[in-house]
Amino acid sequence: MVQTLTVLGLESSCDDTAAAVVRQTDFEPAEILSSIVHGQTELHSAFGGVVPEIAARAHTEKLDICVKQALDTAGLSLRDMDAIAVTAGPGLIGGVMSGVMCAKGLSAASGLPLIGVNHLAGHALTPRLTDKIAFPYLMLLVSGGHCQYLIASGPEEFTRLGGTIDDAPGEAFDKTARLLGLPQPGGPSVEAEARAGNPNRFHFPRPLLDRPCCDLSFSGLKTALLRLRDLVVLERGGLMRSDRADLCAGFQQAVVETLSEKTRRAIALYMAESPPEPVIAVAGGVAANLAIRARLETVAVEAGAKFIAPPLSLCTDNAAMIAFAGLERFRLGARDGMELSARPRWPLDQNSPSILGGGKKGAKA
Ligand code: KG4
Ligand code: ZN
Repeated sequence: MVQTLTVLGLESSCDDTAAAVVRQTDFEPAEILSSIVHGQTELHSAFGGVVPEIAARAHTEKLDICVKQALDTAGLSLRDMDAIAVTAGPGLIGGVMSGVMCAKGLSAASGLPLIGVNHLAGHALTPRLTDKIAFPYLMLLVSGGHCQYLIASGPEEFTRLGGTIDDAPGEAFDKTARLLGLPQPGGPSVEAEARAGNPNRFHFPRPLLDRPCCDLSFSGLKTALLRLRDLVVLERGGLMRSDRADLCAGFQQAVVETLSEKTRRAIALYMAESPPEPVIAVAGGVAANLAIRARLETVAVEAGAKFIAPPLSLCTDNAAMIAFAGLERFRLGARDGMELSARPRWPLDQNSPSILGGGKKGAKA
């Protein structure tokens, strides 16, 4: 019998309040009927980072508005839904709790089943939402708060091959921009400056390349940048436009080369499992970087794998990915009751040891 599932998704784990409606008939491509995102950038801009209490209050104010907008845009009501999916972690606990409480209220009032979703699973399953790829595929999650390689073998089956032991790359881009007086978010500004720069003028380290694993480290790049910047200022009395461009180009080149070498290693581990249709997918804000994206694509193609990068609106935090991940869990028979709790930490791969210092920032996990 043909089964069509329609799921309302809620996301509030960091600084985006989002709601979306996703529908899928059997294993046809899923359809995003609506996807509403209210960002909070301006609320936090004066503080140089996300303030958890401000974020949680803003989520509480915006969640019901988002849900109404998502249902109205889809032209549907709660009666047309089969389930309500909500991010239950990891993330800033106040925000996650706001979402879980809102979803519980909607579930209690409507009688709809409640599905708790791991935010990282939302990111990791996005290539199935956008490109309908089959398991198993290799995933690189690369954003302001996380960086890890995962083999996705099922909606709830993930094997982590490695990840950052300190900063995430987006965080390193943001800090680089701050140190050079460039606007936030740092990624796009550093990328723009790097275009005119010479990547070989300054020497940046290639962290952890001497170790055979897929783990990464980015905090040393920021320290190197600070040291090189201060040297230039000392020698020339200030930073010229070309100095800034060369520093950005050197920094970005180090990130590109580190990610491409670690990706090569992750692909080798993935290919050892002989996937029938090898795919490497990338998600997260840093995937917007054209130099990184182009190099990862080359590495994937060289290894005989297809490369997938979802559109940016679905790479960054959104609720369509949560609705879809919930739909995939729902199809497997998963149901959560009123005992669903908010979890600030929730590794996708429960069996892999936690990485020392990994996910330190946590806010944008
Ligand atoms: O996925 P995202 O919107 O939020 C989370 O961190 O979850 O990613 C935001 C991060 C920021 O650190 C931003 O600087 C980085 O992604 N980013 C970029 C680029 N665009 C955004 N990093 C490098 N190059 C870019 N073009
Ligand atoms: Zn995220």
